Amino acid sequence: MAVYLGIDIGTSGTKTLAMNEDGAILAAATVEYPLYSPKPGWSEQNPVDWWAASVKSVKKVMRAAKLKAASVGGIGLSGQMHGSVFLDKSGSVIRPALLWNDQRTAAECVEIEKRAGGRKKLIKMVANPALTGFTAPKILWLRNNEKKNFDKTVQILLPKDYVRYRLTGEFATEVSDASGTLLLDVVKRRWSKRLLGKLDLDASLFPRMHESEDVTGGLSAIAAKAMGLKVGTPVVGGGGDQAASAIGNGIVRKGVVSATMGTSGVVFAHSDQVQVDPEGRLHTFCHAVRGKWHVMGCVLSAGGSLQWFRNELCQAEVAAAKKKKVDPYELITQQAAEAPAGSEGLFFLPYLTGERTPHADPNARGSWVGLSLRHGKGHMARSVMEGATYAMRDSLEIAKGMNIPVKEIRLSGGGARSQYWRQMQADIYGQPVVTINAEEGPAYGVALLAAAGTGAYKDVVEACKATISVVTKTAAKPAAKKTYNKAYPVYQQLYASLKDDFAEIQKLV
Ligand code: XUL
Repeated sequence: MAVYLGIDIGTSGTKTLAMNEDGAILAAATVEYPLYSPKPGWSEQNPVDWWAASVKSVKKVMRAAKLKAASVGGIGLSGQMHGSVFLDKSGSVIRPALLWNDQRTAAECVEIEKRAGGRKKLIKMVANPALTGFTAPKILWLRNNEKKNFDKTVQILLPKDYVRYRLTGEFATEVSDASGTLLLDVVKRRWSKRLLGKLDLDASLFPRMHESEDVTGGLSAIAAKAMGLKVGTPVVGGGGDQAASAIGNGIVRKGVVSATMGTSGVVFAHSDQVQVDPEGRLHTFCHAVRGKWHVMGCVLSAGGSLQWFRNELCQAEVAAAKKKKVDPYELITQQAAEAPAGSEGLFFLPYLTGERTPHADPNARGSWVGLSLRHGKGHMARSVMEGATYAMRDSLEIAKGMNIPVKEIRLSGGGARSQYWRQMQADIYGQPVVTINAEEGPAYGVALLAAAGTGAYKDVVEACKATISVVTKTAAKPAAKKTYNKAYPVYQQLYASLKDDFAEIQKLV
């Protein structure tokens, strides 16, 4: 039986897994690398670290599962989206890559909108507004600030596509990740010649475009030797980490939506047609399913808010958990469960790192509103979890408003592991939520794409059908649902009320 490798170039490390044709995971390994922040708001990594981690993690997985090189039927690549790798004419990296969470490009976002003839026209060309995290503003930043480096650049790649280049020698990408560059004509699934023209960027700077299942090349002799694999092993397009993760969650048909509560929170909905939020709050990107699209909302500090609460305010719980050998979140959740739904009027806004969806506001701040003498730590814990969940509901509501059906919500990430938080999500979303048998995220999704792309399945939809199934279902409790339906509009109003104050606060620091 053939095996498939999925390699995910994440922000903290590269995770590789080996999967057999039935979708069973044989081994997985993660190799970490540093992130550099040479100035406030800057976020960079060395692409060569990604390559070294890919080689190391593949070797670890092959060893752990005792696999022979000849058994590897294909490789899929996933990675952090939006990052920019600049290569010179010898194929060497010119400077560290700017990452998805780098915030230095506010001026370039304004420049892009202006050159495009306004926000509306830009959204028409590439389906999305300019956000600091996206790739195009990073390229303009290089041109505006490091002209010498820009002049040396002959090829610009996304993180996983740099690893593809090292694997196969090919400059290639695929539609799901390319959507997050802001340079893709998302409707036609090819580079937007129009926007490239307006931005004065040469089309030759960008790699060849594929669908995510397509084989983009085979392993070169050098790469095969470094990894202990076979020359010519096919490498498929793969996907940006969000689309890849959605494949891993089986989000491949209309009506099935995922809500992933990790450090950040992502709501991801499949769509058969391109559907664009005219206000640009949700991203509209190509899906890793051939000829399909998705919309996506990204809450920057979802689980991250609870992590902050644990680290800063729960030292006692962390110590007690260590003694009892349990997860500190278990003790925090027990306290939260003592407070009633709605936390007796206490609201937490989870904007600890500004917010992307729905506000696109780097100045937004985390806040507790509504504290009274009645409130204790349990209320605070509960309100943090509620705030993060209301923020996810924002994206679900926008999707519904765009007539994207939300029939089944699949939970994943840390927020799916606790029954308490699953119940809260059902109550706040106001509909049942389910979990599935797979928990491996993007690396699993691209291993499925590799299996589909090399012929083990008709396509990735078939691959998902064969391997992914629902394992738990949690229905909303009517009383809690009612309470949250009353509280949610208040939560929404709080950002509107505080928006200008957040901007003023930013001027003080
Ligand atoms: C997606 C996004 C992040 C990065 C890093 O739009 O910014 O998910 O891909 O994981």
